[in-house]
Amino acid sequence: MTVPFKTAVVTGISSGIGQALTQKLLVEGYQVIGTTRSGTVPGLAHPRLHVIALEATDEASIAQAVARIATLTKGVDLLVNNAGAAPDVFAITPERTAFTQTLATNITGPVFFTEPLLPQLNEGAQVVFISSNMGLPRNAAPNGPGYRLSKAAINMYAAMLATRLAERRIQVMPMHPGWVQTKLGGDQAPLTPAQAAEGIYQGLVTNPGSGLFWNAAAGAAEAF
Ligand SMILES: NC(=O)c1ccc[n+]([C@@H]2O[C@H](COP(=O)([O-])OP(=O)(O)OC[C@H]3O[C@@H](n4cnc5c(N)ncnc54)[C@H](OP(=O)(O)O)[C@@H]3O)[C@@H](O)[C@H]2O)c1
Repeated sequence: MTVPFKTAVVTGISSGIGQALTQKLLVEGYQVIGTTRSGTVPGLAHPRLHVIALEATDEASIAQAVARIATLTKGVDLLVNNAGAAPDVFAITPERTAFTQTLATNITGPVFFTEPLLPQLNEGAQVVFISSNMGLPRNAAPNGPGYRLSKAAINMYAAMLATRLAERRIQVMPMHPGWVQTKLGGDQAPLTPAQAAEGIYQGLVTNPGSGLFWNAAAGAAEAF
């Protein structure tokens, strides 16, 4: 008997954590539907990888991506909202353009991408939001106002969604990937994208409990 593939949807696989997680999920036997803004990823090809276009801040692009996902799979087992931006991470004072761009990418985009995908989630599916420990109230340093607020907001959305989806046994997990060497994290970070992907995958396997915040660098769930 052949075991059917599990299907994962991962946003923002053009680089960094999203790309490393895609590679990890392919090794683990998933079919991966990955999104990039261009709809392509040069140099990344696999028989179980489908790359589709998604601009997270654009309503029409979200609708097209959701429709395309429905043509590629009968149901989604894992949704990873990874795409994100941090244009104000070194700023102290909120600046309107960077602030609104951050919230559009990191909170409005994931919420309005996740909502229409909910009917496509299989019973027992997992929904992950790549958040950050910068969004935890105990880490309220003054820099990165839009970024910290966006990650705090996604943590709350994840906790609310966990309650909403409990009857369908769908697990919702906000995750901190660690400080990671990516375009966003910079090259001083201690973790490689592959190490972060491994930590995120351990969170999926450990399944610590819906609504809990998984620290992939520590390998443990943490209080909000
Ligand atoms: N690196 C860290 O230390 C760290 C720590 C905590 C949390 N995180 C989180 O990890 C996630 C992944 O970031 P990363 O570190 O891997 O950085 P990255 O290499 O810059 O990757 C970010 C991804 O998001 C995509 N993206 C950005 N804006 C988008 C938009 N408007 N629409 C669609 N896609 C968009 C990027 O696409 P383009 O290539 O087209 O820009 C890219 O694929 C983010 O949510 C970030 O907040 C990272």
